[in-house]
Amino acid sequence: MHTHRHTHNCPALFSGRASRIYDVVARRFVRRMYRRIADDLVGALPRNADVLDVGTGPGVLLVELATRRPDLRLTGIDLSDDMIALAQRNTREFGDRVSARVANVVDLPFADGSFDVVTTSLSSHHWDDPAAAVPELARVLHPGGRFYDYDLPFAPFDVLADTARERGVLAGEPLRRGKFRNGVPLLPCVRQVMTA
Ligand SMILES: C[S@@+](CC[C@H](N)C(=O)[O-])C[C@H]1O[C@@H](n2cnc3c(N)ncnc32)[C@H](O)[C@@H]1O
Repeated sequence: MHTHRHTHNCPALFSGRASRIYDVVARRFVRRMYRRIADDLVGALPRNADVLDVGTGPGVLLVELATRRPDLRLTGIDLSDDMIALAQRNTREFGDRVSARVANVVDLPFADGSFDVVTTSLSSHHWDDPAAAVPELARVLHPGGRFYDYDLPFAPFDVLADTARERGVLAGEPLRRGKFRNGVPLLPCVRQVMTA
């Protein structure tokens, strides 16, 4: 039995007016965090990489990645159709190299080995069933691809790691976990990296 604290999904926080407030906060007040995550990721991304952002919300990380690297093909998914509408609006300027669609991390609508990197920020602590996400994340990554999770310290990092170990997936390289300086006071952040 895994013990960890996480709040699970809160649809009311991520739809309607709340999603529009989240969009403004993410774009204007917490922007520095997405810049730091994008800076952290771009060094690890091969040319022309396919990248998936899980629980993309209004897609601010997609914008920061697309701005830095015109060669990337970027996809965002989220459970909330209001968040996906905001992500589509925020990424419109990048044309069809950025796309966003509604999906659940436990049932990803992509072929095996579709992505070089899967990333997620401030989302995994909202997943209802993080253990069920593990085989899906492993499936859509190609061998050697990486999963980057940036989240609050109480996110289900142990569940993800233990499930991967039990299933023998995301088992490349030793898993890395450590504090991530996101530049936002009062928003402590941990980064966990797993390799397919
Ligand atoms: C706090 S927001 C983070 C949004 C964005 N990644 C960011 O860093 O600002 C969490 C997002 O995760 C999404 N989410 C929650 N459970 C999910 C699941 N099972 N599959 C996909 N997205 C999920 C929510 O709809 C919400 O938009």
